[in-house]
Amino acid sequence: MSRENSYHSLAGKPVIVTGGAAGIGKAMALAFARHGAHVGIVDRDSKGADAVRDAILAAGGTAAAASSDVADIPALTAAIAALRQQLGRIQILINNAGHDERHDFETMTPDYWDDRMAVNLRHLAFAAQAVTPDMKQSGGGTIINLGSTSWMQGAAGLIAYGTAKAAIGGFTQCLSRDLGPHGIRVMCIAPGRTLTERSQALANDPAYVSETLGRQAVQQLVTPDDIARLALWLASDDARIMSGQTIIADGGHIQR
Ligand SMILES: NC(=O)c1ccc[n+]([C@@H]2O[C@H](COP(=O)([O-])OP(=O)(O)OC[C@H]3O[C@@H](n4cnc5c(N)ncnc54)[C@H](O)[C@@H]3O)[C@@H](O)[C@H]2O)c1
Repeated sequence: MSRENSYHSLAGKPVIVTGGAAGIGKAMALAFARHGAHVGIVDRDSKGADAVRDAILAAGGTAAAASSDVADIPALTAAIAALRQQLGRIQILINNAGHDERHDFETMTPDYWDDRMAVNLRHLAFAAQAVTPDMKQSGGGTIINLGSTSWMQGAAGLIAYGTAKAAIGGFTQCLSRDLGPHGIRVMCIAPGRTLTERSQALANDPAYVSETLGRQAVQQLVTPDDIARLALWLASDDARIMSGQTIIADGGHIQR
């Protein structure tokens, strides 16, 4: 792994990462902790969230975990309130939780559609709403939403997921306008294919590796830590003029 920059402006800042028990969210939680941020993890996987919290504490960092399904808005806001009590006023929010379950368009039901919106879109708005008073009181803050390149490439079997992820770009742009006067920046990171624990086995599949690298300019598979390092910069004071945008982090997708 390449050498990492230090973002001193993140030290001591309370940050909440939804879906922080695994994958990109876990990498985010560990990366912010490495920079001295005080990390709150929200995840429905309480064992996984506790394990990430314990790893941060064992390394001398500050962390807390709360179990919640982000689709349950009262439970999500209660989890954020509990973490705030332990960590202080929230200054950074990483809206990361999501799930890219494949689905068949022709048999999809209205309930399934609503469920996908609840898991991939709705919670971002209410987590942001829950931390806005803290950020206003602190004179500013950063909200980073996780989008995806899947809809940009018309990925198959992901109609509801892709629709939710496309909407996150609009949510980011509109929210940045409303919160900008309070010093709150809102950004979206759209990762390309990123190997997480869930998909790590694919790294040993030559067909997957060659197909993935064949569509990238950068000849390295994208890792959760690559996405986390972008989030560090976006949340730091170095990115003070960045807001409202979607940044694509996909190794440079090549149309063939
Ligand atoms: N990995 C990729 O290739 C990729 C590409 C583009 C976008 N993304 C986006 O990045 C984000 C993270 O993806 P990942 O690949 O790390 O996923 P992952 O499945 O590896 O981890 C997701 C984490 O979120 C938690 N989570 C999922 N649904 C939840 C819910 N309803 N309530 C609470 N916690 C929940 C899981 O328990 C898990 O800890 C997602 O928003 C995803 O859509 C991922």
